[in-house]
Amino acid sequence: MPKGVIKRYSQYLPVTEKTPEITLGEGDTPLVRSTRLAAEMGGLELYFKLEGCNPTGSFKDRGMVVAVAKALEEGSRGIICASTGNTSAAAAAYGARFDVPVTVLVPKGNVAAGKLAQARAYGARVLVVNGNFDQALTMVRTLVERHPITLVNSVNPNRLEGQKTAAFEVVDELGDSPDYVCIPVGNAGNITAYWKGFVEYKGKGKARSLPRMMGFQAEGAAPIVQGRPVENPSTVASAIRIGNPASWQAAIKARDDSGGIIDSVNDDEILEAYHKLAASEGIFCEPASAASVAGLMKLYRAGWELKGSRIVCIITGSGLKDPDLAARSIRSEMIEVSPRLEEVEAALLIPSA
Ligand code: F0G
Repeated sequence: MPKGVIKRYSQYLPVTEKTPEITLGEGDTPLVRSTRLAAEMGGLELYFKLEGCNPTGSFKDRGMVVAVAKALEEGSRGIICASTGNTSAAAAAYGARFDVPVTVLVPKGNVAAGKLAQARAYGARVLVVNGNFDQALTMVRTLVERHPITLVNSVNPNRLEGQKTAAFEVVDELGDSPDYVCIPVGNAGNITAYWKGFVEYKGKGKARSLPRMMGFQAEGAAPIVQGRPVENPSTVASAIRIGNPASWQAAIKARDDSGGIIDSVNDDEILEAYHKLAASEGIFCEPASAASVAGLMKLYRAGWELKGSRIVCIITGSGLKDPDLAARSIRSEMIEVSPRLEEVEAALLIPSA
């Protein structure tokens, strides 16, 4: 299979013979079938799409590779984005590798440590804004009008084009669209891109059906659910701490055209799903990603008839991105031992037969 989303899906992407076929090996992420959670929810055909397995640990790489390829093609002098962390890590990585200067604006105090470490390691110029994501995004939108640099937030259509390849992969693997796609919603680019991908694939005869798009915002950052911007968004899931999503209208269209919903989940529900995914499915994701599973669990508890449905939860980023939250919220104890075999042996975890 060709490596990278540009090569693999070029016929569906806005690429020409002038577009450099760059890649860091993004895409082709695992679709893992659930065992325990599927059974706990009354018998679902449930899958997790592990987008944290992308090169920088989040789904952003798919769109970023296309955005950077187009920026290179157009002779852009640099790229810029506002970010809750993952977009900045992806921009910084592709910029480093393909010689594009990168500036990122991140909200002070609300970016997970792993993401900041990445942006800095890859050599981006990191501007820490004493404000929130929405304010940072407003500024970068103005800056790209004044300078010969390219905006690589998901308002750049090339980002959504690359991102939609995740929907193609789901269909390629399952043979059709699933019944439901559960997905976290922040700036709302991802839900928009997935829907675009499913619709396009059906149009090309690659899928017979379309899924219902089930988007989930964090309760303290749920402007689409509330129908108005949230001035001071707050949630443990810092990646989706966004009060005025750029792709708001497109997300509503995806919801309505697909017969789906956009609902919210609170921080307790997010953390419950975050812990369950790790401890019972072996999937360590970041809290924003767990919102997809938290949302599904909420629907199940509310009595949605899901039995037998084929459902894909999008696990958007790796748990390693946010080590502080893991340290704060994971309750399992660590046991200190001296380097003596008997002491270690006495502490082994071996269930009795
Ligand atoms: N999950 C993760 C891990 C994210 O980083 C994001 C967004 C989302 C879900 C929501 O996706 O914005 O397309 O609705 N992160 C952006 C960033 C905002 O700057 O990294 P969305």
